[in-house]
Amino acid sequence: MVGSVAAARGEGAVRKGPYIQNLTRNSVTVMVETRPERSCSVLVRDARGQQLQRVTDRPSVMHEIVLGDLESGHRYSYSVQCEGADVGGGEFATAPDSDSPFMFVVFGDSRSMPGAHSSVIERIRAEVPDFLLGTGDLVNEGGIESDWQTFFEI
Ligand SMILES: [Fe+2]
Repeated sequence: MVGSVAAARGEGAVRKGPYIQNLTRNSVTVMVETRPERSCSVLVRDARGQQLQRVTDRPSVMHEIVLGDLESGHRYSYSVQCEGADVGGGEFATAPDSDSPFMFVVFGDSRSMPGAHSSVIERIRAEVPDFLLGTGDLVNEGGIESDWQTFFEI
C-alpha cells in the first residue's frame, strides 16, 4: 500500500510527509522529505477555502517550510505540491490566545515495535488531540534510515 501511495505522489518522490510541527499561535512548519531533490510549495487556505498564501522552497530533499502571519485560534487547511504533483495535505488549528481548555497526548518509545506504535497512533487519531508531545526514542537506531521510514509510514 505504501508503494502505491508513493507512486500516486509522483514516481515515489515523496519519502515522508507532508506533516506539520512546531505549531504556534501564528505559525506552523510543514515538513516533506523527497528523493531526489524537488522544489515544493505549500498552499494555505482558511476555513472557507480562501487561498491565503503560497510558500515555495528551493530544490532539496528535506523541506522545512514555515508559514507565518496566521491568526491565533483559527483553523486552516494546507496542501503541498512538489514540482506540480499533489503530495498531500491536511488541516490544523493555531493555538488560541485565550486560556481555553485543550487536550494533548504525550507518547514515546515507539522504537522497534511497529505493531504497538500503530495501535497507539490509531487510538490518538480517534481522540483528535490539539497537539502531540513526543518524548523520544522514536526509532530503535537513529542511524538506520529504514527505521525512520517505518516510523513515518505509521
Ligand atoms: Fe526510552
